[in-house]
Amino acid sequence: MTFDYKVADLSLAEAGRHQIRLAEHEMPGLMALRREFADTQPLAGARIAGSLHMTVQTAVLIETLTALGAEVRWASCNIFSTQDEAAAAVVVGKGTVEEPAGVPVFAWKNESLEDYWWTATQILTWPGQAEGLGPNMILDDGGDATMLVHKGAEFEALGAVPANPQEGDADYSHEYTVFLDTLRATIESEPQKWSAIAAGIRGVTEETTTGVHRLYQLAAQGKLLFPAINVNDSVTKSKFDNKYGIRHSLPDGLNRATDVLIGGKVAVVCGYGDVGKGAAEALRGQGARVIVTEIDPICALQAAMDGYQVAKLETVLGQGDIFITTTGNKDVIMARHMAGMKHQAIVGNIGHFDNEIDIAGLARIPGVEKIEIKPQVHEWVVPANEAEGVEKHSIIMLSEGRLLNLGNATGHPSFVMSNSFANQTIAQIELFTKFEKEDAEGNREYENEVYVLPKILDEKVARLHLDALGVELTELTKGQAEYLDIDVAGPYKPEQYRY
Ligand code: NAI
Repeated sequence: MTFDYKVADLSLAEAGRHQIRLAEHEMPGLMALRREFADTQPLAGARIAGSLHMTVQTAVLIETLTALGAEVRWASCNIFSTQDEAAAAVVVGKGTVEEPAGVPVFAWKNESLEDYWWTATQILTWPGQAEGLGPNMILDDGGDATMLVHKGAEFEALGAVPANPQEGDADYSHEYTVFLDTLRATIESEPQKWSAIAAGIRGVTEETTTGVHRLYQLAAQGKLLFPAINVNDSVTKSKFDNKYGIRHSLPDGLNRATDVLIGGKVAVVCGYGDVGKGAAEALRGQGARVIVTEIDPICALQAAMDGYQVAKLETVLGQGDIFITTTGNKDVIMARHMAGMKHQAIVGNIGHFDNEIDIAGLARIPGVEKIEIKPQVHEWVVPANEAEGVEKHSIIMLSEGRLLNLGNATGHPSFVMSNSFANQTIAQIELFTKFEKEDAEGNREYENEVYVLPKILDEKVARLHLDALGVELTELTKGQAEYLDIDVAGPYKPEQYRY
């Protein structure tokens, strides 16, 4: 079998396969779904374009989707997050390095932005496209694959891709420029490429807070071209992956990048949502004194009651040894902030996009010097500026401001990702199999809106992970269930319950 793919080195496949084998044991949710759906093959006919960090855990997800009948093409949703051995193992599959027989993957660690958008295009470009066998599902993390299809279709309808913004324009970024260049090139060679792809997509399942935010924006503008399932807001995703996953992978990233002792340091965590809560807890667990910044009074109060000092970033610039952004917002740590930090303060982001930290502004400081300590760890030497009261000092920047748990380490561990990816798999099955389902009045079950999975499925995902942890679950008696007015088999909580 020949197929196209692009990974760093296929000879890493054996190492990747060993890691995948161990991960499978730690991913009971995904393995249970493989068993449950082995005979019925609910994803037969699904052609899934996947854009999500190409890690060992994602390899287990990909092979679960194919075990359920899907065809898959995969790219990473971040230039630094691929584990090359996992990518190689997925390509080789049950074949050999000489004759790979797995899944087309387009991902390697340390892609350029041009590479990144090329890989995103590859997962949406299928060999059978001309015969109507293009992608019919998207599995997204952060929304870039979805954005490519939507913007592509929008610009095709307009008849042109807008001119690139220039430095100084509000929407200028190098990323956006490369994105527009990619669209321009693809539309030039295939004028209706993106509208044709959009028409074939049955739905998208979105992994993360930032991607979900983009989907709700599209839906509110009436621009969403296909139904979407918000996987992030399954309780068994955001209250687990975003919190407990970060609690594990943030220190992992910090340690692998710098090996600085966290105990005794002052760590500033910007944002106290799900990710911020996991980050703050992890740093406190290592003995750091943690300071939180927040814009939301509810989350600020939570942080205070959890025992953290809550302050404005400006107030604590000179105190922090470690600064971590977790907001999913832009412009959180700016160059002027970094100018006021201590010598060798560590700055990293764990939110989805790199625009939380103003790297461009840092690079514009006159006389600033960037030294590579090792890949994804850079020392920025900021010169003294007497007029502005700045002393010469260094900032240690992790993963160039991109999510450091995946850039400097290997992301969340398998067990927590089993929860997230069980939700992903169930969401793919929902949208793919119910795409055309209508009720008695002829209304589609899934319109071009954003949905979350029903609570009973969320509870199912949790249930799939209890045995592995030796959890004994108490069963409701019939009388208790009647008293609470719920079913013995669940769902156990009303929709508005917050956990
Ligand atoms: P969230 O919405 O629960 O939390 C973000 C918090 O930041 C909110 O409480 C918000 O009020 C606060 N915030 C916004 N602007 C702020 C500012 N200027 N200063 C201080 N606080 C501010 O979102 P969640 O789920 O915690 O996700 C955060 C980001 O992390 C998203 O981009 C998400 O996609 C990403 N993420 C990354 C993961 C990883 O493995 N690196 C895993 C899961 C999510």
